[in-house]
Amino acid sequence: MRVLGIETSCDETSAAIVEERDDDLRPWLVRSNVVASQVDIHRAWGGIVPELSARQHIRDICGVVERALEDAGPVAAGTPPYDVIAVTQGPGLVGSLLVGLSFAKSLAWSRNVPFVPVHHLAGHIESLVLEGGEMPVPAVVLVVSGGHTSLYRVPARGVYERLGRTRDDAAGEAYDKVAKLLGLGYPGGPVIDRLAAEGNERAVALPRTRLTHPDRNAPDLPGHHDFSFSGLKTSVARYVAQRRTALGLSADAPLPEGDVRDLCASFQRVVAGTLLDALFDAARDAGARSVGIAGGVSANSRLRRDALARGAAAGLPVFVPALSLSTDNAAMIAAAGLRAFRAGARGEWSVNADASLPLRPV
Ligand code: KG4
Ligand code: ZN
Repeated sequence: MRVLGIETSCDETSAAIVEERDDDLRPWLVRSNVVASQVDIHRAWGGIVPELSARQHIRDICGVVERALEDAGPVAAGTPPYDVIAVTQGPGLVGSLLVGLSFAKSLAWSRNVPFVPVHHLAGHIESLVLEGGEMPVPAVVLVVSGGHTSLYRVPARGVYERLGRTRDDAAGEAYDKVAKLLGLGYPGGPVIDRLAAEGNERAVALPRTRLTHPDRNAPDLPGHHDFSFSGLKTSVARYVAQRRTALGLSADAPLPEGDVRDLCASFQRVVAGTLLDALFDAARDAGARSVGIAGGVSANSRLRRDALARGAAAGLPVFVPALSLSTDNAAMIAAAGLRAFRAGARGEWSVNADASLPLRPV
């Protein structure tokens, strides 16, 4: 069975073909995964402009889907190119989501195949399975991207229970805001990651936020697995202002390169430490048999390296996606859709895009 995945929740138009295999440990094979990134369009504005994003998805979607079908290679005569369509329903930018969802519904209708609406974060979690095979459960997965920083317990395949989430900025958002502050452009993650490798990570003392009290807005969560990154971002801003004054620079002058590298390294050390402390604490509390890190920030070199080292020390297998599966892509949506389809999920024609869709078990 082949699944066509479609993802348009943010600034990437993506389509993929994922094939089911007769292998319980490695159930899915990525046949193609085409991603058209809009990053060059949004860079000029310093962040994503929702209306521009939706319009660009409309321009790109046909070509991206055609390319994914071509790249997947031929199917046997008389066999359809895909048996089911999986599409991101939410969360995300509503105009962008609508492009993918409407396209998927139209295609499903005209080709007479079923479609499955998918939660974007279920996609990120299932990207781990595409790369490393099925995770031993219970597992604890950190989903960390530009829009999300959340911890999930996965007690059984396809079941996702939220343990904590950020109360303000997502970790990727903190990367993007700090990069903007330092004049490093958008997106901030890759460039800070590169500069951090050349800096002194102990040069700048930055605070590490550890929450202990429950969040009044989320009484169902224990609270101590939550994150907060806005204080860190403010500390970086304050440090940059002080440093400019100390060096006699004007209020918007760039800092010297050495200062920027040290600041990036110090910032990255705090972010990676905060995320991994929370992940491994939650894994211990949940009696996890494996841990995973998914989402755009899982591309971070320091986070990957430290996660593998901590996993080895704790005797826990660590799952991280291939770089091509860490940022937004449709292969992960196809994987999550296939799991949901096998559990009986089917999309109704009335299904609508939902910018703040909750993640429910399939
Ligand atoms: O998952 P994703 O593609 O989109 C969202 O759903 O948000 O994640 C994008 C985020 C951006 O904030 C970007 O700065 C961050 O992932 N990112 C990184 C790295 N590569 C991308 N953050 C830290 N280190 C990286 N190497
Ligand atoms: Zn994402």
